[in-house]
Parts: sequence; C-alpha cells; structure tokens
Amino acid sequence: MSAAASRMPTQSMEIAKVKEHIGAIVTGIDLAQPIDDATRKKLYDAVVEHVVLVIRGQAHLSPGQVQAAGEMFGELMEDQNRRYLVDGFPLISVLDNRHKDSKGQTAKVGANATWHTDHTNQELPPKFTMLYAVAVPDKGGATSVCNARAAYEALPDDVKRQIAGAKTENTLISSARMKTGNPDVVKAQMEAKKPPTVHPLVRTHPETGTKAVWFHKGKTETVTGMSPEETQDFLQDLTDKITQPQFCYAHEYEKGDLLIIDDRASLHKAGFDYDRSQHRRLYRMLVRGDRPY
Ligand SMILES: [Fe+2]
Repeated sequence: MSAAASRMPTQSMEIAKVKEHIGAIVTGIDLAQPIDDATRKKLYDAVVEHVVLVIRGQAHLSPGQVQAAGEMFGELMEDQNRRYLVDGFPLISVLDNRHKDSKGQTAKVGANATWHTDHTNQELPPKFTMLYAVAVPDKGGATSVCNARAAYEALPDDVKRQIAGAKTENTLISSARMKTGNPDVVKAQMEAKKPPTVHPLVRTHPETGTKAVWFHKGKTETVTGMSPEETQDFLQDLTDKITQPQFCYAHEYEKGDLLIIDDRASLHKAGFDYDRSQHRRLYRMLVRGDRPY
C-alpha cells in the first residue's frame, strides 16, 4: 500500500438516495484502494437500507479487484450458471449479450427479463447479487430492482392474510417455462433428480426483521394449495401488485458501475430494451445467504 493510498480520505465518499423507497448512488470512493472497516460497514448498511446500491466510477478495476470489492460484502458463492466465468475467477460469472447457448443462439429474452430473485431453487440462496458493468449500451439495458419490503407493507390486509404462511416449491425451471425456456436450463432440469426446494412466499429479513414478498416465478412450480397453472397466474397478479413504480428503480449502467442488491428484500429483472447490436457485458457475483424463513 502506498502512503497516498493509506491516507486516502474515506470522508469523500457520498451516498445519495435515489427516491423514497429504493436506491442510493455512491460516489467519491475508489474500490482499488484499501477500504477501512467503518467505510465497509457504511456501504453494507446502505445496501440493506436502500435495497440497491450503485457504486460509480470503478471502470479501472481488474477482475481480482472486482472480486475483492465483492468480498467486502461477505463470502462469495458459486453461480449455478457455470457456462461463462471470468478466466481464472470461478466466483465471477459473465452475462454477455454476445454469448451463444448450446444451440448456437445468442441469449434471447429469458426468465431474467421478468421480476424474480436469484437461485430460489437452492436451500441457501444468495443474500446479495452484485453486477459490475464491463460494457454497456448507449441507452436501455437497465437492471430494475423493486423494494419488496415496502411493497409488502403497502399490500391490502386481505392479500397479506392470503399469502401469510404460503410456501413455494422451487425448481431450476418451472414446468410452465419448460416449453419456452433456455434449452440449456431445460436440459439441466430434466437431468436433475432433486426434489423441489421449499421456501416461504413471504420471508423475514434476518437483519432487520422486516417481511418481504420473495419468489422467482420462472422457478416456482407451485404455491401452497395451487396447481402449476394457478401458481403462474397468482404470481403474475402478485408481481403486478408489488412492482408499483414508487417501489422500483431501473438503473441504466455506466461502464464501471458496481450494483449491489439485497436479495432478501427485493425482486429484480434485466432490461432487453436496447440496441442489441451494441455490447452489454456484466460480471455477476453472489454473496452466500441464509435459509429463508
Ligand atoms: Fe437475477
């Protein structure tokens, strides 16, 4: 560490709220420099408070420095999509619109284009999803995040009663999506011999004690007491109730943005509304989480 680095003033960091219910933008910090514990805690707490945090201006980071930045927020876990990883960095996966699936097709609009939270088919889904912008289109291609905690609190009491105690059964891909889903994911699901993973539809945040609606429609086979078809209709209706504009923020990336989402209190989706001839490449890291309850 250079003397200049060790004296770097952490007080130049600013965290600016985006809107009442969601989002904050961080400027005035260089993640290539050592980050002290107080600053790290401020950033962590800001993710939990604002649900999504964007750290601007990190385009100069190497993959190793991106990973170190991710590790400030907890232990990284493997992405279950192992097809595209950064060379030499198995904990960083790559989302790139120029990648092709095993049938030679470039990525089409997939389940990630609809509101969801990540890896709900796992017993211990990630607590944070982090996306780092390597290449971005001129406009569009946002990641949208919805504060599912504030949205839950705003639900009418009869809806809260209806979903209290409900469970979701989660697979890699729901039978409803088997016909239209990514062929690689469908193949992996056909080969999986795993029973569905059961999670609560309304989960309690382990750090704040607040409740949030929490599901991945494309991975949910059933909600308690419903057929797979009823489940899809019900979750679409619930999505519409939750993703009101005041609870959502669509972040259009600048190159070098590091976006951090608290998955325990949110749903998110990828935007495909951009000039597809332009390059969009994100690195994704996941921080290991707890069993939802
Ligand atoms: Fe996602």
